[in-house]
Amino acid sequence: MAESRQSRPPRPADHVVVLFGATGDLARRKLLPGLFHLAKAGLMPDRYRIVGTAPAAEALDDEAFRAHARKAVAEFGRSKPEGPAWQEFESSLSFGAADEGATEPLETAVRTAGQAVGGSPHRLFHLAVPPVAFTSVIRLLGSTGLAEDARVIVEKPFGTDLASARALNAAIHAVFDEDRVFRIDHFLGKEAVDNILALRFANGLFEPIWNREHISHVQIDVPEQIDIQGRAHFFEGTGTFRDMVVTHLFQLLGFVAMEPPVALEAQSLRDEQVKVFRSMRPLDPAHVVRGQYTGYRAEPGVDPASDTETFVALRVGIDNWRWAGVPFQLRTGKALAEGRHVVTLGLREPALRMFPLDARAAGEGRGNELVIDFADPGSLTTRFLVKEPGPAMRLECADMAFGYGTSFASENSLEAYEHLILEAMLGDQSLFTRSDGIERLWEVASPLLEAPPPVEPYAKGSWGPEGIRAIAAPHRWHLPARAAGRS
Ligand code: BG6
Repeated sequence: MAESRQSRPPRPADHVVVLFGATGDLARRKLLPGLFHLAKAGLMPDRYRIVGTAPAAEALDDEAFRAHARKAVAEFGRSKPEGPAWQEFESSLSFGAADEGATEPLETAVRTAGQAVGGSPHRLFHLAVPPVAFTSVIRLLGSTGLAEDARVIVEKPFGTDLASARALNAAIHAVFDEDRVFRIDHFLGKEAVDNILALRFANGLFEPIWNREHISHVQIDVPEQIDIQGRAHFFEGTGTFRDMVVTHLFQLLGFVAMEPPVALEAQSLRDEQVKVFRSMRPLDPAHVVRGQYTGYRAEPGVDPASDTETFVALRVGIDNWRWAGVPFQLRTGKALAEGRHVVTLGLREPALRMFPLDARAAGEGRGNELVIDFADPGSLTTRFLVKEPGPAMRLECADMAFGYGTSFASENSLEAYEHLILEAMLGDQSLFTRSDGIERLWEVASPLLEAPPPVEPYAKGSWGPEGIRAIAAPHRWHLPARAAGRS
């Protein structure tokens, strides 16, 4: 059995990390700053080298790559690129270009890096490349022999429908066995996902109520205030459902809804997550609202008649003993009133109502709820009803709140990408998605992809189209107030 996450060593074994797409946006914003943060936090291997690569047309020499990394870390990193920590990190960086059929510079750079580390370091490839380049990079790795015994981190999208997801998985598996594939969904690297596991499986308090007997509905809500931020080319071909729902929101749902795993290790966790996906009902387009913010069609690069959605709300059922009859309401979109990351579990009312229902307090049966706010640093709030002081028996809502920001020092926390790159170096797949899970989710999505409802307009800064109320009924869309102490 694989090592469980409690018992494994805290630092990875020696590594050569190879960044494909080293000159691209993701490397600049997340990967280079993230790797430097891990180095500063003492979480990189004792001995490591980082090799950047890109097609020859975008090639840099070692010095230029180091300057590129310094700039990226200065702009996007939490730690400034200075002092001995930076010098050590910088000296680990080198560059080797690669195109299909012309891989010599990369092979040399990887060989040299390996020799500098000494012994037999692990090799980890991070494929931060656009989908069109993906299969050729995989082929390139297979043809050079660099892939042998190596691990690979793969970025979304993992296909755009069932057929393309299968084709992609087949292309990956032609070169890498599944146990060496790390598909990144950065939502699974957020602290709150681990905390959902801790909350559920380390406490006697919550797990007993985590089922259809006590929970009436679950809402997973990720409204974003940002619009598409000039990413028309990406967004037009993708849309919110593929960008956010079939990836991030469904993955979260897997963790919220899973059965207790046999152990806290990758196979058990992922087996349970995939079981949830298998129990999900195929999406019914009648339970889905697609929205598009007013003005989207006028954005540069957007088709003036575009049918791409910038908002999705949907209801999905999970047909298993734990969740039968409990709707899971999911909502996310761009240019909305507020940016939040929240999972809310609405609890059923007591069997007998003894107290007069105060609409303000109970908010249509919303008296009891458990709110997991997973925007870093994250918080957890239990909401219940209490009696208001005074002669009358009046109920009011009260909160018990736990905030990560006010309870723990934030310097120990890792940002999602940092956390996931570290997990990949440790060889732990617990927080990475598996090929059968991905394919099942596209299967669940198929009815919607085949017959999507028309997009409904909504105003920027609103909460999305009016039509979303109907799919939540008899429940409501409801975003709990931020926990006290959070910014
Ligand atoms: C990305 C999507 O995967 O996640 C973006 O492509 C989205 O469209 C982003 O804005 C949200 O991530 P986070 O961590 O800021 O909630």
